[in-house]
Amino acid sequence: FIAPGEKTGEGGAILAKDILGNQIPASQILAEAPGTRALVAGLAGEPTYLIVKEDNTLDHIGLVDNCTHLGCTFPWNPLDQQFQCPCHGSRYAPDGSVVRGPAPLPLKIVQVAVFNNSILISPWTETDPRTGKNPWWV
Ligand code: FES
Repeated sequence: FIAPGEKTGEGGAILAKDILGNQIPASQILAEAPGTRALVAGLAGEPTYLIVKEDNTLDHIGLVDNCTHLGCTFPWNPLDQQFQCPCHGSRYAPDGSVVRGPAPLPLKIVQVAVFNNSILISPWTETDPRTGKNPWWV
């Protein structure tokens, strides 16, 4: 058993980068207002939302910007506090659970950790905290 927030080991961790492939320092993301969902390039380059928490730290859970319906990317709507997919109208809660379909599954999540001002992203392989089950993507 690995507690949420712990690293899953040597395998698979990468450093968060911007769209040009430059490493993003944690301080850059943490300069954003609490509640910000910041898009970075995550595992295998997948666009991934990092969440700035109210206490100005990074949430240890990141959300992959890939709709579980047909794979569109989607924005965060701060007014509705939802991720809203423009393709067919799926909506997701802040934790990535489905609020409205046709999305069949919650958003894929990843582990996020900060070390020496670097942002480490690694695969989430333990229980999905939203469903209490094994992750559907493993
Ligand atoms: Fe997002 Fe269809 S791809 S609702």
